[in-house]
Parts: sequence; C-alpha cells; structure tokens
Amino acid sequence: MSKGFLISIEGPDGAGKTTVLQQMLPALEALGREIVTTREPGGVSIAEAIRSIILNPENTEMDDKTELLLFVAARRQHLMEKILPPLERGALVIIDRFIDSSIAYQGFGRGLDVDDINWLNAYATDGLKPDLTLYFDIDVEEGLARIACNASRDVDRLDMEKIDMHQRVRQGYLSILEKESDRVVRIDASQDLATVTAQALAMIEEKLKV
Ligand code: TYD
Repeated sequence: MSKGFLISIEGPDGAGKTTVLQQMLPALEALGREIVTTREPGGVSIAEAIRSIILNPENTEMDDKTELLLFVAARRQHLMEKILPPLERGALVIIDRFIDSSIAYQGFGRGLDVDDINWLNAYATDGLKPDLTLYFDIDVEEGLARIACNASRDVDRLDMEKIDMHQRVRQGYLSILEKESDRVVRIDASQDLATVTAQALAMIEEKLKV
C-alpha cells in the first residue's frame, strides 16, 4: 500500500486558501488516489463544538492561553478521527490550517511563547508534521479587504482583531517559512485565482513525485 501524504494549507485571513483548495479538487481527484479534505478548527463533531466556542464573537473574555489550549485540543481530536485513518490507508489528506496557525496566531499574534506552542503541537500530534505546507502569502490589508467584500463569510472573533495582530501573524508565517523551507513553500496569493491555483497544484504534483 502506498504511503499517505499530508498537506496543510496556511495563510493570513483573506488569503483565499479555502477557495484555491476547492478549485484544485477536480485536478487532485484525477490523480487517482483517495483525497480527503478537512479543516481546523473543526472537521469532526467534538472539534466543531470547540470551534464554535473559540470563534464566537461574544466570547470576548477568553484568555489567550485558553484559546491556544482549545485550538490544540480540537487539533488532537481531529487528528485521531479524521487525519490518521485516511493517512494509514494511503490517502492524500489536505488540511485547511494546522500546527503553523497556532505558531502564527497564538505565538506571533498573541505573543505566547513559541517554544511552548511547538511542544503543545508535538504533544497533540505525536510529532506528526505535514509532508508539505502551502503558505498563501498576502499583504494584510489586502487580505482583510477581501474578507470585507465577501458577504457570505461570517466575521469571527479572530477576524475582529486589530490590524497589528494580523501583521504579526503574517510575520509569524514568514518566520516559519524561513526556518522550515524544506516543508513550507510560499505562494503569492495576491495573483489571480487561476494562477494561484495552478501554482499550488504544480507544487503538490512535484512533491508527490518524490
Ligand atoms: P476560519 O473561519 O476557518 O478562517 P479561515 O477561513 O481564515 O481559515 O477561522 C479560523 C480562525 O482561527 C482563523 O482566524 C485562524 C484562527 N486559528 C488560530 O488562531 N489558531 C489555530 O491554531 C487555528 C487552527 C486557527
């Protein structure tokens, strides 16, 4: 049986990664292996329940460490139920946000200790890291403007954060990119959707060949 393959897609809010994933699906399905797509926080019922607590705009009193621990708890449950079984069957699993979101948002964005978060991530995933991470990079103001234009997208508690938090999140991603250039590749998400989709697909196909 062929080995499973785990890809995460990451980026600041409004980078368009979720839309690109939808656009890539037909081509990915044509590769002839099982494809599973999922998202964090959520993906399974316990994690979706945690998601609604984390993202509820009314939960303004939430402490930063509580927020981190909830994301990590949701990650563990999601991994056990939705990621490991298909990986064990040899599937290509694509996850919309994973460990790097905690580093970028709770570490760089909220200012929590990055070493602690690395440890918590490793604890929650038993050390599993993606084989490939596509980082959709976009200027913060452009990303937030896209969200504002998208009437179908609800504004959540994280979206409501001030612009300087979003700037720090982007710096966080750029720092991960620099440190883990073997795993993480940058895609310029300010380009048009067709170009971004084609580049993302090419990167996945390239990696699957290895
Ligand atoms: P979501 O609606 O899925 O946003 P997006 O479409 O931008 O992925 O909401 C997820 C929010 O949660 C997003 O603002 C990023 C944030 N987040 C963290 O802060 N830490 C994490 O570990 C994860 C997985 C997400």
